[in-house]
Order: sequence, then structure tokens, then C-alpha cells
Amino acid sequence: MPTTIRAAVLERSGAVSRVEELTLDEPRAGEIRVRMLASGVCHSDLHVRDGEWDRPGPVVMGHEGAGVVEALGDGVDPAATGLEVGRLVALAWTVPCGRCRSCRGGRTWECPDSPSYTHRMADGSSRLHRPDGQDVLSYCAIGTMAEAQVVSAVAAVPMPDGTPPEVAALIGCCVATGVGAVTKTVPLEAGSSLAVIGLGGVGLSAVMGAALAGASRIVVVDRNPAKLDLARGLGATDTVLAGSDAAITLAAIRDATGGGPDVCVEAIGLPATIELAIACVPAGGTALLVGMTPYGVRASFEVFPFVDGARRIVGSNYGSAMPAVDFPHYAALHLDGRLPVNRLVTARIGLDGVELAFERMRRGEGVRSVVIF
Ligand SMILES: NC(=O)c1ccc[n+]([C@@H]2O[C@H](COP(=O)([O-])OP(=O)(O)OC[C@H]3O[C@@H](n4cnc5c(N)ncnc54)[C@H](O)[C@@H]3O)[C@@H](O)[C@H]2O)c1
Ligand SMILES: [Zn+2]
Ligand SMILES: [Zn+2]
Repeated sequence: MPTTIRAAVLERSGAVSRVEELTLDEPRAGEIRVRMLASGVCHSDLHVRDGEWDRPGPVVMGHEGAGVVEALGDGVDPAATGLEVGRLVALAWTVPCGRCRSCRGGRTWECPDSPSYTHRMADGSSRLHRPDGQDVLSYCAIGTMAEAQVVSAVAAVPMPDGTPPEVAALIGCCVATGVGAVTKTVPLEAGSSLAVIGLGGVGLSAVMGAALAGASRIVVVDRNPAKLDLARGLGATDTVLAGSDAAITLAAIRDATGGGPDVCVEAIGLPATIELAIACVPAGGTALLVGMTPYGVRASFEVFPFVDGARRIVGSNYGSAMPAVDFPHYAALHLDGRLPVNRLVTARIGLDGVELAFERMRRGEGVRSVVIF
């Protein structure tokens, strides 16, 4: 029997999101139904909402969520997968195709054939419909801003007992992205120095990851002073309030790190701050690009000192996450008191609060707004 649920739906990229009642089909073979408990609002949702990334619609938004397993489709073996009814799961936004070179090599974050890019189930169909029968897509094939969802079993990762649902939700995007960038994509060596530009959920997770990795200096940069204070509590050693003059910010980052950080994470997605990240690293340093720009945006750098100083630019997608291994690991670190993910939650909202959360995010206020179901 199909279920009736409420969800935040975007008619198309650039439209205002609306809460709608939809019908949700039963899970088919290899799928599960998840009763959602928490869904964070990430800037990647805002890129779609503001029309910076073109996506098909209508689509249920959200890709940073957690909930409990409610029903299993044919062939999903709870003993083999850990997906027993009632188990808390975090959802991963790159559903692996399982066949491509990247998936076969264990690098699912690179998968070019992931159903997540079609926002449909692996067989191309959709489990969500409007009352008139129109199909509704599911963002990244998990669409977490919904009271319940049907997802591929391979997108759901069982989480350790006692993990708070909102923590599990954030592990599904910003934590995996930020912690993974500095511990997996470019593993920081203990004693090295790091700068992080942009202190949203992603940037602050990179700060927490760097603290875990034993970085000697963690310099944080944001235009909002409240973010700098929050970062200090998570392990930042130096703070730089970004103003309108990039040269002043650049000098402050260099000052705090004796000439420039070994690694500079850009976690916003603006050409100016991407260029700043590339400019601030010393010879041998790495600009680690995590922030996503609107499509078509370019950034530039002066080539001679870049090559002469053997510098590197590295792009990091999903913090090089292997969700089945990394998500429970991040949860265990949280339960151990070593990854205070809960401090990223600055607002708890209902589905009808998503547009206001976007408005706060555009202004750079707060860190994560989390929809609690
Ligand atoms: N690579 C990946 O896999 C991946 C995954 C998730 C998110 N992202 C991207 O990462 C970026 C950050 O996401 P988020 O959810 O943390 O965003 P966010 O909006 O919560 O945080 C951005 C931060 O940047 C600050 N900021 C904005 N403009 C600034 C400027 N000019 N100078 C200094 N600070 C400035 C804001 O005050 C805010 O604190 C987005 O582009 C998002 O799409 C990438
Ligand atoms: Zn995200
Ligand atoms: Zn693949």
C-alpha cells in the first residue's frame, strides 16, 4: 500500500520550495523505506533552490538525512546488511552504480553513473507521486526533506546505537565532506598547518577533522565573527575576519602560519576565495577545493610561482567517503567526544521552515538548520 507523506518540493531550480502531500510507493527489490528523523539544510540545496545548478523537477529536496528503517523490499537481507527494521541509518548522496571503474575501485564519490545524478531509482523510475499521478523526483535519489522515503539499500548506512539522529544526518553530508577532505582526500600530517576559508557546516567539519589529525595551526577565515568564535571552540588556533580587501586577508593568513598554511581548504565556492586559497599556500602547499560554484564559473592563478613552488590544487568530492566504513566511524568519534558534530546544529525547524533556513544561509547566519520530523 502506498503511504501519504509531506515533503519539501521544488518545482524546478530557482523556484520557491513548497510543502506538499505526496504518495510514496512500497519499496521494490533492493530498496528500503526509511521514516526520516532529521534532515540538514546544506548550501548544495541552496545552489539548486537559487537556480545556480540546473536540476530536473519537481523534486523532493534534501541530501543530508537520517531516519529509521521501516520496511524492506525483496532481497534486502537484514543479517547481511545490518538494515533491520527500527535501525537508525544515515543516507549517502552518491548511490553507487556498482559497475563503473570508480565504483569497482572503491571510489564511489567519483562514480559518473550514479542514479543520484538522475534523481531517480536505479531502474529509472520514481517512488513519489503527486495526487494527480505526476512523478516527483528525489534529490540525489535520497530526497531527505520528506517524512519518509524509499531509497536503494546501498544508500543506507546502519549507525551505532546511541547516535543522535541529527548527528547521523549531518554525517551524511557536511561532516563526511569536511572531515574527509582533510583526513582522506589530503590526509593532514600531524604538526602541519591548515587554513579554512568559509565556516559553514563543511568548513567547520574540516576544522574538526584537522584538530583530530593533530594540525599545529588551524587558521579560520569568515566574514561573520560569530563563525570565528564557534570555530575556536572546535580547535581553531587563529581567526581572520574577512573584509572586502583580499590582500589584507591573505597577509593575515600568511602571518598566522609563518608564510602560509601547508593546506588551505576553500569551503564556500566563490572565485575570489578560491583564488585566495591558491595564493596563500607556500611552496609545496595544497589548495584543497571543497566549495562548489555555480556552473560555468572560472577562477585563475599566476602560473609561474605555482609551478616553480611545486604547489597543488586538489578537488575533493564528498570527502572521498566510503560511507559504509566512514559514517559509523565518524559516529563513533562523536560518541567518544572527539567529533562534536552537535555543535553545528544552530536551528531546529519543521518542513515549513526550509525557506527561512535558506534565507539565513544566504546571509551567512547560523551553521546547520536541521528539519526534525
Ligand atoms: N565538495 C563536496 O563534496 C561538497 C559537499 C557539500 C557541500 N559542498 C559545497 O561546500 C560549500 C559550503 O557549504 P556549506 O553548507 O558549509 O555552506 P554555508 O553557506 O553554510 O557556509 C558558507 C560560509 O562561508 C562564509 N562566507 C560567504 N562568503 C564569504 C566571503 N566572501 N568571505 C569569507 N567568508 C564567506 C559564510 O559566512 C558561511 O559561514 C557550498 O558551495 C556547497 O555546495 C561541497
Ligand atoms: Zn551537502
Ligand atoms: Zn559507479
